[in-house]
Amino acid sequence: MLSQRTIEVIKSTVPVLEIHGTAITTRFYNMLFTAHPELLDIFNHANQKQGKQQAALANAVYAAALHIDRLEMILPVVKQIAHKHRSLGVQAEHYPIVGQHLLAAIKDVLGDAASEEILQAWGEAYGVIADAFIGIEADMYEQAKTQAGGWAGFKPFRIIQKVKESDVITSFYMTPLDGGALAAFEPGQYISVNVHIPGEEHAQIRQYSLSDASDKPYYRISVKREDAIVDRPAGKVSVYLHEQKEVGDILSISAPAGDFTLDQRDSRPVVLISGGVGLTPMVSMLNTLAIAKPARQVTFIHAAHNGRLHALKQQVETVAQQNSNLSFHWCYEKPTEQDLTEPAFHKQGYIDLNWLQTVVPVKEASYYFCGPVPFMKAIHDALLEWGIPAEDLHYEFFGPAGSL
Ligand code: HEM
Repeated sequence: MLSQRTIEVIKSTVPVLEIHGTAITTRFYNMLFTAHPELLDIFNHANQKQGKQQAALANAVYAAALHIDRLEMILPVVKQIAHKHRSLGVQAEHYPIVGQHLLAAIKDVLGDAASEEILQAWGEAYGVIADAFIGIEADMYEQAKTQAGGWAGFKPFRIIQKVKESDVITSFYMTPLDGGALAAFEPGQYISVNVHIPGEEHAQIRQYSLSDASDKPYYRISVKREDAIVDRPAGKVSVYLHEQKEVGDILSISAPAGDFTLDQRDSRPVVLISGGVGLTPMVSMLNTLAIAKPARQVTFIHAAHNGRLHALKQQVETVAQQNSNLSFHWCYEKPTEQDLTEPAFHKQGYIDLNWLQTVVPVKEASYYFCGPVPFMKAIHDALLEWGIPAEDLHYEFFGPAGSL
């Protein structure tokens, strides 16, 4: 339990640390990886390079510090991060290492402004925050291990099928190498894939949503090949999976994780909206609803650049044909000539509120959406403008979580 004085020191220094947040976490990572290069096997190097992880960690530490006397207020955020940590294999013994280097980085960046009292207070506060994470993650590891078919850490799976779903998205179907049962998962959850790319010094871990329902005899992920663009190099792992991993090869994966999941107790209509590869958790939700809740009204909306980049289209249309409560709508930013001739072609341009109002049959529904950040922001703002209550909006970021 922190003393009142410690809490005061923490709260009064949060704004100062926020100003230097990114400098502190950047310094922190330099120190951490110099002292513990083995941790480069866990952290996503691309996120590090883009500074995304620095921002995510800084935000989380300051948010936690601000609520240090009421950590239960930010429990949902802690749980979401803990899911990610569990799927990556973060262990209790990593926390003191991170704490030591975080404090050293604060001291380094703040210089004389970091008094003994301030450092002492942050050391104590970090301990409280770390204990909260360690406790929640221990429960998650236990649950992953004891669940039927479950496991903690990484387990080898064999690729049994590889299917090209669009010009850039390919699905990998996988079953456990040991022939054992598959752990059930909630639609919307993801797995971590751990690969050693030949020629690379460190392992690389990436998260991919499971893109089919949990009742199948396989796990399926549908991976977008991230080619290089002007300000971003090609995605090493996605290109490796697309180009080097074939049927019969082994992939090391974590048990399913994540709290962006479909509420299956909710019987209201549901609207699933996705942009680009953000459709993967949505298709898992759709396929689950089609089997488990065929009476529930489902509207599936997908935005893609054009039909050539539209993955899993045929599958969604087939599910819809078999279920009269399900409707689907496509929106292409720049449709090809071929797209325009398709009878099911629905909208050109971007999804906007006017169009949503014409395709969503019942406004009082649960809304789930996933896609690139600008897309999510547009959907989020449009739905709020329409008057949908914030608690009916459910969304997930790919990569480090942010805010809309
Ligand atoms: C991811 C916070 C401790 C390893 C994250 C994220 C946050 C965060 C906010 C981003 C979550 C997301 O992607 O949505 C924290 C806090 C910690 C802590 C507040 C301490 C109290 C640790 C420790 C380790 C660790 C001890 C292990 C050495 C990671 C890794 C990721 C991550 C590998 C994924 C980031 C990536 O590679 O892109 N953490 N973390 N974290 N954390 Fe932590």
